[in-house]
Amino acid sequence: MPEKLLAEVAQHRKSTYPVHPILLNRWSPRSMTGESMSDEELFSLFEAARWAPSSYNAQPWRFVYAKRNTPHWQTIFDLMIPFNQSWAKNAACLVVVVSKKTFEHNGKPGRTHSYDAGAAWMSLAIEASSRGYVAHGLEGFDEVKARKDLHVPDDYHVDAMIVLGKRAPKEELSQELQEREFPSSRRPLSEILKEGCF
Ligand SMILES: Cc1cc2nc3c(=O)[nH]c(=O)nc-3n(C[C@H](O)[C@H](O)[C@H](O)COP(=O)(O)O)c2cc1C
Repeated sequence: MPEKLLAEVAQHRKSTYPVHPILLNRWSPRSMTGESMSDEELFSLFEAARWAPSSYNAQPWRFVYAKRNTPHWQTIFDLMIPFNQSWAKNAACLVVVVSKKTFEHNGKPGRTHSYDAGAAWMSLAIEASSRGYVAHGLEGFDEVKARKDLHVPDDYHVDAMIVLGKRAPKEELSQELQEREFPSSRRPLSEILKEGCF
């Protein structure tokens, strides 16, 4: 597993203050080979998500997934907008992230279920990128259709999708997507820090 900043990342990303390279090495490629992934490969990614922190350790995240060449693949694939389908067709696994809106210990609404699910997604994404796999988050899908077609209970919020797969060279993408296939930068810290009050 690489501990150093990858060359493809170093060209595009510079941290202002030192951080672990694993954070900058994670990005969201779209080019994938179309190969399938074994449960062994996939479940290590879900295992990483499992260890994320959450309010009251409630672990509200649930992952509804379908692997390529399995009966439910098409159901999840059909949830995506055409733009996302155009590249996610080469994924190995499609995931819909949902989070439980209430606590099991008292039945009361939780305020941070999506925040917690976001932490789990980030753990999964870091594990995936450290193993050289693509993990690409998605909001471009029909969450109402997802709830219906995947039988998501009312007590769960549909948060986002994740596309997982084996990386391919960017040349496998359309010309338009090739131009977007690089690690993006970020706002400066000064824009996101508010010392004391907003
Ligand atoms: C919750 C979420 C939703 C996203 N939705 C989409 C999407 O629908 N389509 C897409 O191509 N990329 C999507 N992205 C990818 C973001 O555009 C990408 O993460 C962002 O530009 C930062 O780039 P990086 O992940 O390469 O660092 C999404 C990412 C997240 C975390």
